[in-house]
Amino acid sequence: MDANTILQLFPTPAREVALNGLYLGHDLRRQHEELGRPFVYTNYVVSIDGRIAIPRPTGGGMMVPQETSNDRDWRLFQELAVQADCLISSGRYLRDYAEGKAQEILRVYDEPRFADLGRWREERGLSRYPDLAVVSGSLDFPIPPFLTQEGRKVVVVTHGAADRQRAARLESEGAQVLRAGASDVSGRQAIAALGELGYRTIYMATGPRVHHLLLADDALDRLYTTVAHRLLGGQPFSSLVEGDLLQPAIGLRLHALYFDPYALDGLGQQFVCYGR
Ligand SMILES: NC(=O)c1ccc[n+]([C@@H]2O[C@H](COP(=O)([O-])OP(=O)(O)OC[C@H]3O[C@@H](n4cnc5c(N)ncnc54)[C@H](OP(=O)(O)O)[C@@H]3O)[C@@H](O)[C@H]2O)c1
Repeated sequence: MDANTILQLFPTPAREVALNGLYLGHDLRRQHEELGRPFVYTNYVVSIDGRIAIPRPTGGGMMVPQETSNDRDWRLFQELAVQADCLISSGRYLRDYAEGKAQEILRVYDEPRFADLGRWREERGLSRYPDLAVVSGSLDFPIPPFLTQEGRKVVVVTHGAADRQRAARLESEGAQVLRAGASDVSGRQAIAALGELGYRTIYMATGPRVHHLLLADDALDRLYTTVAHRLLGGQPFSSLVEGDLLQPAIGLRLHALYFDPYALDGLGQQFVCYGR
């Protein structure tokens, strides 16, 4: 083995596979065909003790821990994102983005290391970037002007009780505002509304509460996790789903499992993919 490869442990038999192209090979743009509705998937990098985010050392919110984030996971995150018609983000992300403290997910194909992914979309006749859906109750964030200047569609998904003046401001900044749910965003209604806009392959790239609202409504089809081989401890922290007890509990089946021995200075990490 060398650093370009990882070990596929499931499906069996075990074999070496290339890291680059791994999740492109999952062919996510075909998945909606059997479902007859949008295919919705998400991805988290998580420590062994279940942490996806810890407080920023400088204060002011949470961040992905440096001890779990790494380039090999980030490559696979981008391979999932590139396959989407639409990325789901959040009001929190765009607030952080405006302050320059969010991890860049909105314009990555200009980076030389991801130029092949830009070409991947171009070869398939797709727009340069997926459109953006922003889940928010507060509606308190700006739309980054470059998004609409480049002709990308920005859909804000909120609920019936959300502030009308703020909704009007976001519309004046070029967004389309959808109300999916009465006093809270409903996962089922949100995905149905995005489906009506023509999105078939939807990548949910935000945190544990948006994850919960999709799970609670049975609106998530596939969960990717990268388990970084570190324990972090500490309070407070975010796990990959937060909210009320899920009743019934959500059962998932193992779709694929890989061991990457080269990540994190040789500690390694597992890429685990679950389906419904
Ligand atoms: N390790 C990883 O792979 C990973 C992945 C994703 C996120 N994270 C980290 O996890 C932390 C938390 O993530 P997050 O803040 O994006 O996720 P979140 O807890 O799911 O919530 C994000 C935002 O979504 C909106 N929202 C959530 N539930 C809503 C509902 N029911 N109705 C209406 N709006 C709702 C809210 O926006 P408004 O406040 O505008 O109403 C909220 O601030 C962050 O530090 C992030 O970096 C880590």
